[in-house]
Amino acid sequence: LWKGLHLHEELAARLQQAIVDEPPFSVREGGMIRTGYNQELDELHLIAADNKTWMQNFEQKIKEETGIKTMKVGFNKVFGYYIEVSKGQSSSVPPYFVRKQTLVNAERYIVPELKEFENKILGAKEKIEQLEYYLFDELRTLIRGKIKEIQETARAVSYIDVLTGLAEAAYKYNYVRPELNNNGEIKIVDGRHPVVERLLEKEIFVPNNTNLNNTDERMIIITGPNMAGKSTYMRQVALLVLMTQIGSFIPARQASICPVDKIFTRVGASDDLATGQSTFMVEMNEVAQILKYATKNSLIILDEVGRGTSTFDGMSIAHAVMEYIHDRIKAKTLFATHYHQLIALENVLSGVKNYSVAVKERGKDIIFLRRIVPGGTDRSYGVHVARLAGLPKKVLERSEELLKEYDNDNGRMQQPAAAAAPQDNMMGSLFGSSIANELLKLDVMSMTPIEAMSALYKLQDEARKELGK
Ligand SMILES: Nc1ncnc2c1ncn2[C@@H]1O[C@H](COP(=O)(O)OP(=O)(O)O)[C@@H](O)[C@H]1O
Ligand SMILES: [Mg+2]
Repeated sequence: LWKGLHLHEELAARLQQAIVDEPPFSVREGGMIRTGYNQELDELHLIAADNKTWMQNFEQKIKEETGIKTMKVGFNKVFGYYIEVSKGQSSSVPPYFVRKQTLVNAERYIVPELKEFENKILGAKEKIEQLEYYLFDELRTLIRGKIKEIQETARAVSYIDVLTGLAEAAYKYNYVRPELNNNGEIKIVDGRHPVVERLLEKEIFVPNNTNLNNTDERMIIITGPNMAGKSTYMRQVALLVLMTQIGSFIPARQASICPVDKIFTRVGASDDLATGQSTFMVEMNEVAQILKYATKNSLIILDEVGRGTSTFDGMSIAHAVMEYIHDRIKAKTLFATHYHQLIALENVLSGVKNYSVAVKERGKDIIFLRRIVPGGTDRSYGVHVARLAGLPKKVLERSEELLKEYDNDNGRMQQPAAAAAPQDNMMGSLFGSSIANELLKLDVMSMTPIEAMSALYKLQDEARKELGK
């Protein structure tokens, strides 16, 4: 590779001499060749630049010749050079003045000497453009002849650029050299996200550990509220694996990493409307690709899969995708989800391990600790995050109220099938029915025992009918 590195000194010097520091956009209009590069061009420039002095001298001379003191010599793009004389004086111009243009208050004339000058100047400008383009073309041909060497050099330089860039970052930001292992483990102690840690201004980046293997921690489920740091963490793991594999040091205290054959990610919500695909369709397409091409040696990052559709739909898809990866593909997988019901999979699938991003509750506020800790969380703190974001108080209060109702109504129904016992499902449908509404309406505290008994009897009767028992 280094053999391809050439200095191209001659060519560089030539270009330096030939081209101005800030060449114009167009190569056809001149202005790109430096003074001193070509003698003929310099002479043409002298002629073109000289016109101001010449015009002043000429004006002086012609005034003296004719005795008309108010005449002016000028130029415009359409008519070229002219001598302008006011209407009052136009009768006293000498016969060799040829009228060129009539204005409201003045006449414009041309004389042979001025015409000759015009030809010379306009000729010079045209010649400059032609000559510059010719010189430019000459350089281009010269460069074309060396294209192979230049490309080899560019390739070598880009390698040096990348390697020195990584080395500089490693030195400045305390990266370490990861160990490589062949037993399918990804172990990172105090890993950091190389980009996010540089971008944080007020906070300091909280390092986190990672443990993935081919046995009991093959698939990590990460739960935690929005803004906790799930996405950052997963990308961090993928980046550190990638950096390791290209031979770079990585932002961590210590690491041992096995090679992976591919890294797959399904992150973010980028619509691809141009090709007529909705967010959800794009998401599913990507998941389909991942399921098709991942192997047991791959690393998969799935960020909130199933988000683009209704809750039960999304959760079911997420659940099934995880089972499929776990049982068939066996790739190492990080899966962030807001479906905290999925943490129940830890009990069913042997390679699944739950983690969550720790937060501290303080009254109605939460503090993000940015720590990835073992164990799932079943709270999403959506209302807390909404408060942080500054939603109106009325909306927040109403959300809290509704949340309580929903929790009471549906809490049991949202258990995933893997974890929920059959009775639970029955209870679920029971509490979703009109019976639940009736129950809610009862004012238990003001009922007599007899009233309570008869209400209970009535409800039981209804429940029997509803469940067909
Ligand atoms: N380890 C960390 N240390 C400090 N700040 C972090 C860390 N991880 C994430 N953050 C901050 O939190 C923000 C939200 O993180 P993100 O990963 O998008 O959360 P989530 O995916 O859980 O909603 C990031 O933009 C970053 O500013
Ligand atoms: Mg996220």
